[in-house]
Amino acid sequence: MGLVLVLYHSQEFGNTHAMAEAIGEGAREAGAEVRLVNTNERRLGIDEYRAAQAAAFGSPDYYSYIAGGLKVFLDDWFIAKKTNAEGLRDKPYGLFYSHGGGGAVRGPLEELFKRMGVKIGDTVESEGRPNETALAACRALGRALATAKVW
Ligand SMILES: Cc1cc2nc3c(=O)[nH]c(=O)nc-3n(C[C@H](O)[C@H](O)[C@H](O)COP(=O)(O)O)c2cc1C
Repeated sequence: MGLVLVLYHSQEFGNTHAMAEAIGEGAREAGAEVRLVNTNERRLGIDEYRAAQAAAFGSPDYYSYIAGGLKVFLDDWFIAKKTNAEGLRDKPYGLFYSHGGGGAVRGPLEELFKRMGVKIGDTVESEGRPNETALAACRALGRALATAKVW
């Protein structure tokens, strides 16, 4: 089984990070290798994305939009794909987000990332600190990504 990449932004309270950790746990349980990258700490190299068999993308709601670091990833992906699309298209992916009571980021998140490939499972959300229900949904998403068919 291959690599599941969990790419997310977390900065304010660590809420999105806690969700990313739970996705990683689920994917590891199912036998995948896992890499977590917080765009608040570093920019993802596009070849790291090429190497993943599946990916989860997570953002906090920032003004009803995704965090800037994830937008940078999408821009890098689009530009890289023009010269070499190998490993950049048709990947299984999952989505998650954290919010402070609004949560309108769901629309832009789903719309922007639908170009990545085949969506696995439902988008997982959490208001504030993720509770056990949200964490269980994250672990289930991780397991599903680890076992998703690769095209
Ligand atoms: C700059 C900024 C803008 C935000 N805008 C919204 C918003 O429009 N709607 C909302 O529900 N929460 C908003 N929030 C709250 C965060 O989405 C929420 O606290 C989230 O859980 C933070 O995730 P993190 O701890 O992983 O950084 C905002 C927070 C920040 C710092």
